Amino acid sequence: MYNIIAVIAMRNITGNNALGNDFFDRKFEIARYWDKLETDNLLLLAPRRVGKTSIMKTMASDASQHGFAAVYVDVSDSENELRFVQKVWSSLLSDCPDVAARDQISGWLQNSWAGGLVKSFKKAGGYGFSIEIDAGQTSWQQVGEEVSALLGRVDARCLIFIDELPVFVLKLLGEGSQASVERVHQFLYWLRTIRQQFTIRWMLAGSVGLDTVAARINVADAINDLHIEKLDGFAHEIADDFLQALSASYGMKLGPDVRMRILERVGSDRPIPYYLQLMFDQLRQIGNEPTVANVDAAVENLLRPAHKNYFDYWRQRLFEELGRADAEAAILLLNRCCYEQGGELRSTLSLSLAAMVADPDQRESKLRFLLDVLQNDGYLIESERERWRFYSPLLRAFWMKRVAPPPAGSPQEGER
Ligand SMILES: Nc1ncnc2c1ncn2[C@@H]1O[C@H](COP(=O)(O)OP(=O)(O)OP(=O)(O)O)[C@@H](O)[C@H]1O
Ligand SMILES: [Mg+2]
Repeated sequence: MYNIIAVIAMRNITGNNALGNDFFDRKFEIARYWDKLETDNLLLLAPRRVGKTSIMKTMASDASQHGFAAVYVDVSDSENELRFVQKVWSSLLSDCPDVAARDQISGWLQNSWAGGLVKSFKKAGGYGFSIEIDAGQTSWQQVGEEVSALLGRVDARCLIFIDELPVFVLKLLGEGSQASVERVHQFLYWLRTIRQQFTIRWMLAGSVGLDTVAARINVADAINDLHIEKLDGFAHEIADDFLQALSASYGMKLGPDVRMRILERVGSDRPIPYYLQLMFDQLRQIGNEPTVANVDAAVENLLRPAHKNYFDYWRQRLFEELGRADAEAAILLLNRCCYEQGGELRSTLSLSLAAMVADPDQRESKLRFLLDVLQNDGYLIESERERWRFYSPLLRAFWMKRVAPPPAGSPQEGER
């Protein structure tokens, strides 16, 4: 049971990262990650909106208790490798809470040849520095290695949390030309060398499976030194505690039957915290003592066109991550799976790709790749042998109502 002070302070967060008193549980997962980080670098794989960023930011702020000087870096907006390097090192200089480590790094950097490439090296915010690198003729790999070597000499143990690494990698990959595949190879092998040569710990994350992307372009060995951890939604009893804690915090009464119905509708098997938060937000607007019927009404409301944004990134992100052709193929598979609660047979899914990929061998490898991505990313799950269904009942309901073409003769069409 959770202590009453934390319960009172917890707020209903429906978009931003959940931090501080708003961050619920994850004790088991976080203890495990700290344990693994003693010996390994981690790759955290999880579906969308499960709470990766909240976990990594929470860990970064507690890192000193575990003997690490840590920073959190989101690399989704880095447009090339040099910007990636710049962003990581800049974050260390400006955000690392270990002042001694920061001063050591910035002092060395200013005196190193890499320091000579730094175009601007300015005070950022209240403390620390931000750097702007002009590499000129020097390769980004050399710049990265030089700065990593400096980090390797720091007295503190450095830990770098990299968020959205796969989004960055997929951006480099673009439409997948031979040249860009080669570029991604170089980047991933370079990052592996950095991990192996220097005494920095890394925890990498993203909502598309880096393992799937690496396998797709034949560089699985570039990440095989990483220890993989899969993060799921809350365990059922934690989700129930979470709903109780939120309702106590807002002076609401959520009876066991109401909580049970929420979990059924969101998905009682590892419900995604974000959707519990959204449901709670809906119920909070209804009144202090919502009923089971109110839960069903709240789901209907969430699925209205006005709330399309809550779910539509599941569709949009497929395009960003996979490119147009594969995204369209993935959507076709999801369209097939959504109408059957128990899911669709793999053989039927294969047939539905036949118009796009005629060759049976190529079709099989495309299907395997897409199902891997859709599973890693939390869309689908193999419910029983050779049958694929939606992981979240809520996402399935959204997909049926707002994405998949309605079955012939259905009245839904006009609503979309
Ligand atoms: N531990 C938690 N306690 C309370 N709410 C949480 C927790 N984890 C996640 N959430 C809810 O989920 C939402 C998304 O969290 P977060 O941004 O950390 O997830 P993410 O996995 O990084 O998402 P994305 O895939 O979009 O990057 C938060 O706005 C909050 O509503
Ligand atoms: Mg995130």
